[in-house]
Amino acid sequence: MSIHIGAPQGAIAPRVLLPGDPLRARFIADNYLENAVCYNEVRGMYGYTGTYKGVDVSVQGTGMGMPSHSIYVHELINFYGAKILIRVGSCGSIQQEVKLRDLVLGISASTNSSMVSRSFEGLNYAPTADWDLISKAGSVAAELGMKIKAGNILSSDTFYDENPESWKSWAKYGILAIEMEAAALYTLAARFGVKALCLLTVSDSLISREETTSEEREKTFTGMMEMALETAIGTEV
Ligand code: HPA
Repeated sequence: MSIHIGAPQGAIAPRVLLPGDPLRARFIADNYLENAVCYNEVRGMYGYTGTYKGVDVSVQGTGMGMPSHSIYVHELINFYGAKILIRVGSCGSIQQEVKLRDLVLGISASTNSSMVSRSFEGLNYAPTADWDLISKAGSVAAELGMKIKAGNILSSDTFYDENPESWKSWAKYGILAIEMEAAALYTLAARFGVKALCLLTVSDSLISREETTSEEREKTFTGMMEMALETAIGTEV
């Protein structure tokens, strides 16, 4: 047992999917995993382990934002031996060509958070996804005939920013979309020598202010899940 995860040693697979929403974790376990067993209910942050195509896979809710996300990622790696961590989440587009329902892969994650820079005494580290996972996700997408937008994303500490235009300076430098966790995930994965990737579906656009309906989110979610699971089981730990 770790402080925030009430599972015995060995209950969590080396391959872990990380949705922010714990109810999403339950949905993934119910709909995509076989023989899924719930190993965590502490704080309602559900975690499950089951199999996908015969390979053990866990799915753990992490909450929203980098502090919460980091707690689960830290414990998954250091107490339970997680080796491949794939965040599956949603994001807000800040580029015209990144449309609602598109699938975004975060090759790197810029951030407005001090969480990363404080580990480097103010210097600028570039949080980056693992190449094996990036390239596997690319080939899985090609096999499934799915288009992905891959590039730099922004991990923000705020959803409701004081300056509602602050995203524009990031957009100018080609950032594709905003979410709230990947920079911390990539930095922790690098610190502990494991593999991480962030896959996102575009739930809203900061440019057009459009949002997806829950039905649309469901459909895109299915594509992202297939990609995340195939990438996870197709990559060596
Ligand atoms: N900002 C931050 N995180 C998000 C957004 C957003 O607009 N949309 C989905 N996750």
